[in-house]
Formats: sequence, structure tokens, C-alpha cells
Amino acid sequence: MLQTIRWYNDRLLLLDQTRLPLETLYLDIADERQMWDAIKRLVVRGAPAIGVAAAFGVYLGVRGFQNSELLPLYDRINAVADYLATSRPTAVNLFWALDRMRRVARDAGRDSHRMAPREAVEFIKSRLLAECLAMIDEDNRVCRAIGQHGVSLLKSVAGRAINILTHCNAGGLATVQYGTALAPIYVGTEQGLQFHVYSDETRPLLQGSRITAYELETNGVPVTVICDNMAATVMSQGKVDAVIVGTDRVAANGDVANKIGTYGVAILAKHFGVPFYVAAPISSIDWKIADGSQIPIEERDPAEISRGFGRQTAPDGVRFYNPAFDVTPAALVTALITERGVVRPPYRENLAAIR
Ligand code: MRU
Repeated sequence: MLQTIRWYNDRLLLLDQTRLPLETLYLDIADERQMWDAIKRLVVRGAPAIGVAAAFGVYLGVRGFQNSELLPLYDRINAVADYLATSRPTAVNLFWALDRMRRVARDAGRDSHRMAPREAVEFIKSRLLAECLAMIDEDNRVCRAIGQHGVSLLKSVAGRAINILTHCNAGGLATVQYGTALAPIYVGTEQGLQFHVYSDETRPLLQGSRITAYELETNGVPVTVICDNMAATVMSQGKVDAVIVGTDRVAANGDVANKIGTYGVAILAKHFGVPFYVAAPISSIDWKIADGSQIPIEERDPAEISRGFGRQTAPDGVRFYNPAFDVTPAALVTALITERGVVRPPYRENLAAIR
């Protein structure tokens, strides 16, 4: 399994996902500016991976800090975190991870009160790095637990593989290593179940065909890429047993934001009586947001539509609208798969119960 984020010899390496599926190249990220750019350009992408990457961005932004006073260090940590928070708006994991780094710095400051200032500064920096590394381990544990809970929802079908449809990439390449929506497939495969995945190509940036198909193929899971507008046909032909997608943010009422096009897939699943599952680490739940109307939706450069991958595909002079995410109402979500278990409606009550 490819790792999206690697800490190696004091260097932070990101798998450059803009190059997939043709090249597997790691970029060396030296500071918070390079991290901001990597998040913005989708070098690193997928809500959980964005969170961990941003946490490293905070560390990289302060590791060269020389002043031996604590207040300037806190100012610097806050400035770097505020800056990284402007990279992408939708995945709540980004803000969750940045808040966590601020909290760790505060706690480390309290623990260092008997130290000399210079020693305290180094201590806080080392705690920040330790937190980033802990997030990597935690992400792997969380994804594995999501896989275990998720597989309990997937019934084996005698004589053939279980057919899953997914949208975008919520696999190992959207987390540190293991994935959320694809984790039940990996865990199920380990248990001897057989899967086949329909991967929506996912316009306009093709995360489904470039990344999900690449990831599944590399891991030996049979995959068929379909254009986004083929999902209705495939479902109408009875070829999909379940849909599993990831999410960038879950509101307290169970509305879920995910890659643009997910809402349409959910409507189709309802129409054809196919279960629609959303894999969501607890870090993707925004308890402060009552419903999905409050989720900020990123709008991206129109050139992603008009000149995708370097070729002009629409006339000059027309307008474009390029929201990167949509919000699927909770009523269309059969269940949320979290590391603390499967959550079913009513979501407001049942999510609160696992908080
Ligand atoms: O724009 P992207 O590629 O970052 O969008 C990613 C998704 O929509 C994923 O489904 C979501 O972040 C969940 S990843 C476990």
C-alpha cells in the first residue's frame, strides 16, 4: 500500500497525486508555504490526509524557529495554523488537525514551565512533531476500525464478487495509508470475501479513474472505471450491491459533504434500492454545524473544467461553475461507518451517542 505522507530522515515527503496514475513521485515539503500549495493543488488530498499534512505543515513552519521566548513561538504557531487553514475550506479534518496542534503547543507549554526558555521552545517543537507522528498511527488504526465495522454491512453473495460502487477516492490515497470507504473492501478481502468495484471516474479531476482505479489495481482488487453519467445504467442493470463513499464533513444531523457528484449517486441509489454508505472518521464530524447547509463548499478554478489536463474542451467566452463538493442529505444515507461503529438514523441522536 502506497503511503501518502512519509516522515523520513527529518524530511516530509508527499506522494504527488497530481501525477497519478503515470508516475509515483514523492515531493519534499520544506515549509508551510510548500504545504499550503500542496494541499491547494491536490498533491495531497482526501480529508484525513489533508488533516495530517496540515499538522506537519505547522511543525515545518516552526521547526526553524530560533527565538528563545515562548510568546513569539505561540504567535508563530497560530500564524502558521491560520495560514494553512486558508488552503481548502470543506474538509473539516484540516481545521480539526490545526486545532489539535494549537492545543498540543499549549499543553506542552504548561508542561515546560520549569524549563529554561530555550529548552522549553525545543520541547514544544518536539511535542508538535510527536503529535504529527501519532496522527499517522492513529489514522491507520481509525481506518482499520472503519474497515472492520464496514465489512459487517456487506453480505457475501454466493458465486460472485460483491459489487461496490464508489465515487472519487476515499481509499488509502485519501488517508495516510488504508482508506475509509475502501477500508471495508481491504478488510473483507483479508477475510476471504471477493469484491469488484465500479469506480466513477469523478469529473473534473478524475480522482476515481486516476487514483481509486490505480489504488485498487495496485492492491489486487478488480475494478471497472465508469464515467460519472453511467452510474444509473449500471445500477439499473442490478450490478451494484452497495455504494460506499467517503466524506469531507458530516453535519450533526448526518448531512454529508463529499466530492461533487456524490449527491447524484445517492439519489440513484435510493431510486434503485441500493444501500448508500458513508465512511466517516470521527474527525470528519463537525458537531458545531447543525445541518449541511452550513458546510462551506470549495469552488475551484474553472480551468479544471474548460482545460482539464491541458486540453481545451469548451469554447472561449462561456461561463463555468466548479463547486468541488456537494451535500447529500442525511435522508439518503443508509448508514455512516465510523471507527466507533455503524451509525444509523436518526443521526442527530445516534451521532451524539458516539461522540
Ligand atoms: O478534492 P479531493 O480529492 O480532496 O476530494 C476528496 C473526497 O471527496 C473524498 O471522498 C473525501 O475527502 C473523503 S477521503 C477519506
